[in-house]
Amino acid sequence: MKLFGTKETDTHKIYYFCGIKFKFAQWHSIGSVTSDYVFLERNLRENVKMRMNGWWDGYRKQCLNEYFREEIYAWNIVKEKFNHFFLRNINIPQVEFVLTTKCTLRCKNCSNFIPAIKDKYTMSLDEFKNNVDALAKGSNEIQTALLLGGEPLLNKDLPAMVSYIAKNRKFKTIYIVTNATLDFSEELLSAIKEYKDKVRVYISNYSINKELENRLKTKHIVEVLDQNGIGHYTFDDLKWHEMSPCKKLNMPYENVVQRFVTCQAKCVQIYNKHMHICPISTFCEIKKWFDFDENGQEYVCLDSKLSAKTLKKNFIKFYKRDYFQACDWCPKTTYREITPAEQLKEEEAYNG
Ligand SMILES: C[S@@+](CC[C@H](N)C(=O)[O-])C[C@H]1O[C@@H](n2cnc3c(N)ncnc32)[C@H](O)[C@@H]1O
Ligand code: SF4
Ligand code: SF4
Repeated sequence: MKLFGTKETDTHKIYYFCGIKFKFAQWHSIGSVTSDYVFLERNLRENVKMRMNGWWDGYRKQCLNEYFREEIYAWNIVKEKFNHFFLRNINIPQVEFVLTTKCTLRCKNCSNFIPAIKDKYTMSLDEFKNNVDALAKGSNEIQTALLLGGEPLLNKDLPAMVSYIAKNRKFKTIYIVTNATLDFSEELLSAIKEYKDKVRVYISNYSINKELENRLKTKHIVEVLDQNGIGHYTFDDLKWHEMSPCKKLNMPYENVVQRFVTCQAKCVQIYNKHMHICPISTFCEIKKWFDFDENGQEYVCLDSKLSAKTLKKNFIKFYKRDYFQACDWCPKTTYREITPAEQLKEEEAYNG
């Protein structure tokens, strides 16, 4: 009798746990892409991975047992599926909040298209609270929330936002993502310090780019964070990917679906009071490039006054879509590695 492990057949995946056999149909083997398969890949699997491995830096890693790693993963997938398909649980692996579209830098290839946004926007504290409340009300757990922008330290309400989101038990880990051009205020440091078991700072390592040498305060910021006992993380060898211009590709339906289903982007993005599938969809909304039909669920409207049942229903509908209109505008084509944070010249425009 097999105690632990997995076995795959053409139509099923079988999990063994303590001698018990759990048999699940392989969504992709049913013939065509189904919405349940999309949901499983982008959300359930990702959620388990994040819970077990933590974020990039392994923070809040829950799986310490390397020997039974595969078995623990398999068991967690079974649990996650049961919780979703029977108990209607919605666990969100990763969500990012665009706190402002203002920035101190103008990077070519910015994945959030910040230099291309002319009418700048800053999220108010009320909007932020509404978004946090709606997410928490409609879901069971949110593994990681990223507070970014633009440059999040340009939002004067950042300390209050950190306190508000960290207080909410449904949010497990919070990262402030900064380009290290601005100092952390005392108010911000004490807000983070109060919740330092779940709030950390991710410093994008642009020191590789010599043209930014005089703009970056990385060393000083790291010293201050250390003095305050605040966790932080920096990639030693940060890699960026080229973004080709965002324009309509007019792909046939099947290709748009294919693009979405094979897409590696698993982090939803909140702009204004809308939860978008990715920054490209947000950018399309800002540019008004196509009609965003609210009932069509291109994004979810986050309204904390809606009932938990309605919000949950909207999240499920959104996550089960087999493509988004934005996927026909997706500039993630080249994946060519480039120097991070190369700056645009004053007169140079970026992406429309
Ligand atoms: C859009 S930035 C916003 C936060 C902040 N302004 C910063 O640069 O850290 C969020 C993250 O996306 C990363 N990023 C931006 N453009 C990228 C690209 N073309 N390829 C890979 N990562 C990118 C940045 O390094 C940063 O860690
Ligand atoms: S990647 Fe560059 S332009 Fe984009 S938000 Fe960060 S610092 Fe600003
Ligand atoms: S627009 Fe591109 S990155 Fe966004 S979901 Fe579609 S395929 Fe993925």
